[in-house]
Amino acid sequence: MKYIAQPQISEEEISLVSSTIRNGQFVEGKNARALEKEFAEFVGAKHAICVVNGTAALHLAMEATQIPPGAEVITPAFTFIASANSITFGGGIPIFAEIDPESYTIDPESIEKLITPQTKAILPVHIFGLPCNMKLINELAEDYNLVIIEDACQAHGAKINNKHVGTFGDIGCFSFYATKNMITGEGGMIVTDDDELAARIHSLKNHGRGPKGGYEHHRIGYNLRMPDPLAAIGLIQLRKLPSMLEKRKRNAETIRQTISNLDYVDVQKTPKNYTHSHYVCAPVVDADKFSVDEVIHQLKEKGIASRRIYALGCHKQPTYLQGLKKWRWSQYVKYPDYSKVNLPITEQISENHFEIPIHPGVTEIEIGLIQTALEEIFG
Ligand SMILES: Cc1ncc(COP(=O)(O)O)c(C=O)c1O
Repeated sequence: MKYIAQPQISEEEISLVSSTIRNGQFVEGKNARALEKEFAEFVGAKHAICVVNGTAALHLAMEATQIPPGAEVITPAFTFIASANSITFGGGIPIFAEIDPESYTIDPESIEKLITPQTKAILPVHIFGLPCNMKLINELAEDYNLVIIEDACQAHGAKINNKHVGTFGDIGCFSFYATKNMITGEGGMIVTDDDELAARIHSLKNHGRGPKGGYEHHRIGYNLRMPDPLAAIGLIQLRKLPSMLEKRKRNAETIRQTISNLDYVDVQKTPKNYTHSHYVCAPVVDADKFSVDEVIHQLKEKGIASRRIYALGCHKQPTYLQGLKKWRWSQYVKYPDYSKVNLPITEQISENHFEIPIHPGVTEIEIGLIQTALEEIFG
């Protein structure tokens, strides 16, 4: 319980990485193709395209959907900074919406209030592994003709009515960073059903090459390919994902049950027919009764890793508060005054949550110790 996250690596990953390296297969190849095929089947998408990390997936999604420079893209502020930054370096303007106080996911009502003629996309984030309200978000996108880029970087295995996240919008982006539900160390995946988008992404991630490869370049592109030894890790991880998700679920549900019996502490609510993928379990304290810093301190004293993961909403990050002055596009794009953004629910959840370990390496006995610790602190 010393660690919030812990990669679950066995001989299988080590063996496939070793043979990949022995075969001299360093650049994206056989393992990457197999990973894409199995990942597409896992989420139920027509195309899955692997990339070097989740941030690159979001960046390519912005470019491939051809969001014009200076367009507004609505996203939550309660997320990892890469969600907002990918909009910014993709040429857009992040517009931060409020979150729902029970699910901590972006609030569709708040999105609708922020839509202007300049809005071109919504970038919902399935935070902690809980799907956003995609029914209402899809309706908004339809009504206002907006692109949806789903940030599913934390949500491998998350579903609504058995439909996997990443497949509700135009494009879905996943991360395989070392802490995630399945990992490659650094890595990411883009999913889409749209053939044209998929072709553009394949080209953009590979120096703007055409479908035949070689040294003809049809557009300005990048090198965001995934090294094949890392794809080898991902392939085995994906096959182990259902059993890893089961363990996360067991751990998270036990903690949720404990918290439901305690006062002045609450946890993210999962709506009916939603499958939480339990990437993060982060209860929220009632700040009038408990100091979250003190709770984190007490957990650590008891040998349990804990932290506030996003103490600052994106709108409160120094670079956004400074008006993105250090960003080279800021002389061409007029960003809002982020210091005036008022998101009381985001701020309350950001300031008062504490993460506890629920990864598959946490045993039933350890979960029992966490339960006891929470009962002692809040009981
Ligand atoms: C919500 C969210 N978006 C984007 C990212 C970026 O992914 P990566 O770290 O693979 O670049 C992450 C992961 O760290 C994330 O949690």
